[in-house]
Amino acid sequence: MSHREGSFFQRHKLCLAPMLDWTDRHFRYFIRLLSPHCLLYTEMITTGALLRGDAQRFLAFSPEEHPIALQVGGSDPEALAQCARLAKEFGYDEINLNVGCPSDRVQKGRFGACLMKEPALVAECVAAMKSAVEAVGASGARPLVSVKCRIGVDEQEEYSYLENFVDLIQRAGCHQIIVHARKAWLSGLSPKENREIPPLNYPWVYQLKRDFPELTIVINGAIKTVSDALMHLEHVDGVMVGRPAYENPYFFRELEEALFSVTSPLAGEVARLARERDQRQGAITVVQRYLPYVEEQLSAGVRLSTLVRPMLGIFNGLPGSRLWRRHLSTHCHVPGADIQVVTKALSSLNYS
Ligand SMILES: Cc1cc2nc3c(=O)[nH]c(=O)nc-3n(C[C@H](O)[C@H](O)[C@H](O)COP(=O)(O)O)c2cc1C
Repeated sequence: MSHREGSFFQRHKLCLAPMLDWTDRHFRYFIRLLSPHCLLYTEMITTGALLRGDAQRFLAFSPEEHPIALQVGGSDPEALAQCARLAKEFGYDEINLNVGCPSDRVQKGRFGACLMKEPALVAECVAAMKSAVEAVGASGARPLVSVKCRIGVDEQEEYSYLENFVDLIQRAGCHQIIVHARKAWLSGLSPKENREIPPLNYPWVYQLKRDFPELTIVINGAIKTVSDALMHLEHVDGVMVGRPAYENPYFFRELEEALFSVTSPLAGEVARLARERDQRQGAITVVQRYLPYVEEQLSAGVRLSTLVRPMLGIFNGLPGSRLWRRHLSTHCHVPGADIQVVTKALSSLNYS
């Protein structure tokens, strides 16, 4: 299938952003229960960690997580090619290169956002990953090769710089590009500030889609409502959502419904009440569906605290949300804590 065909654009319509310390396999599994269609990205894994560490531990995922993309951080084409081979071997649907993270640690390793200054090297990395996944004789489906970048770094003030960057990497074989619609400052701002302070510039990302209609362009940055997402989708192929996934995971259910299924519109107060009841019931259902997975992972030796983390925010915006969060956070660390911590927290909500 060529990347021009509709389903490739469709696959990126809704994406869970890669987030260190958040989007581990349990978090992704939970989001999958809320959104059957969204494309899930792993946390960034550096080439060094992957190639010298325990690849099985880093790369294992549940079949339900498909479609799933592995995000890697690195700038050595050969190491990235090896990671791409691993991604293919483990059955990932996509391998994504991080060209957006501005942390000092990442800059020291000469990868992440500082690569915005080295488009030729990024193109080389893309080409190496691409030929690794397409190698003749290798078995398994070919993961797509994608790049997640910023609109620029430091003194890069011109759209033409971004345009040239995208042009080079698409010539190297990357047809899916996710753009966090703000610049990163490589010194002076922490990673957190770099997600908040540089102003958003959505029009540049829309312009990319106009200039490169054949590419799948996904927009990222401060997408907080369903109407934000729908507005962006009039200009680009997909939206990627980060922080709201842990602040208010139920947002993914709303996005799923709005982007992938047709629901009957209701008016005003009736709609609000229906939504609230829906959310309450939807959130309970999703927690209940997550429980067998929690049991399975507990018996595999995973800690309860790790497993409850994805669902802490699931009742956000509803009465009882704080109680739920407090109950889980307090009791999940007690020695011998098991699934009953969750079932008790559910019943303490007293929803009827
Ligand atoms: C806790 C945290 C960890 C992140 N880790 C990564 C990462 O590993 N790789 C990456 O490309 N971006 C990372 N990001 C950036 C997000 O993917 C995303 O680009 C950013 O949060 C903006 O999207 P949002 O406004 O929807 O949160 C991280 C963001 C947060 C909040």
